[in-house]
Amino acid sequence: MDKGQKLARYERICGQLAGLLGRTADTQARMATVTALLYHKFDHYFWCGFYRLVDRDLVVGPYQGPLACQVLARGRGVCWAAVTGGETVIVPDVRRFAGHIACDARSLSEIVVPVRDAGGAIVAVLDVAGDKPEQFDEEDRQGLETIVALLTR
Ligand code: SME
Repeated sequence: MDKGQKLARYERICGQLAGLLGRTADTQARMATVTALLYHKFDHYFWCGFYRLVDRDLVVGPYQGPLACQVLARGRGVCWAAVTGGETVIVPDVRRFAGHIACDARSLSEIVVPVRDAGGAIVAVLDVAGDKPEQFDEEDRQGLETIVALLTR
């Protein structure tokens, strides 16, 4: 996609989600709606889903794409890096990310966005993987952070 096209598509998706997410306050339903819409809107998405903080573990939530790890070992991988660092992590090439957890060997790049509750505490992450290196950039960061904020609105 040309520069700016991707962000414009995220903005259109945000508009759709603003209407869809208003239909229920249920977090699982909202997460399922976000993953379903995002996954089918972007060709560079190989996998898209949530990992939720449950009793201090990262446990898989709604996702789209190949089979994923159900629980992520604490302290390793991109998702835990986003939780502990408290900010979005973009990985151009997962083969160069120490401790990367490969739920599927075809994942080669990744972006992980923390999900915060109304009080600002991190309660989950939104994880998106691509099957080519360098699939994610600042437009994905901006678009996904805007979408994630809709979850707890
Ligand atoms: N790659 C992630 C784990 C999630 S599975 O790839 C969907 C990580 O390193 O945390």
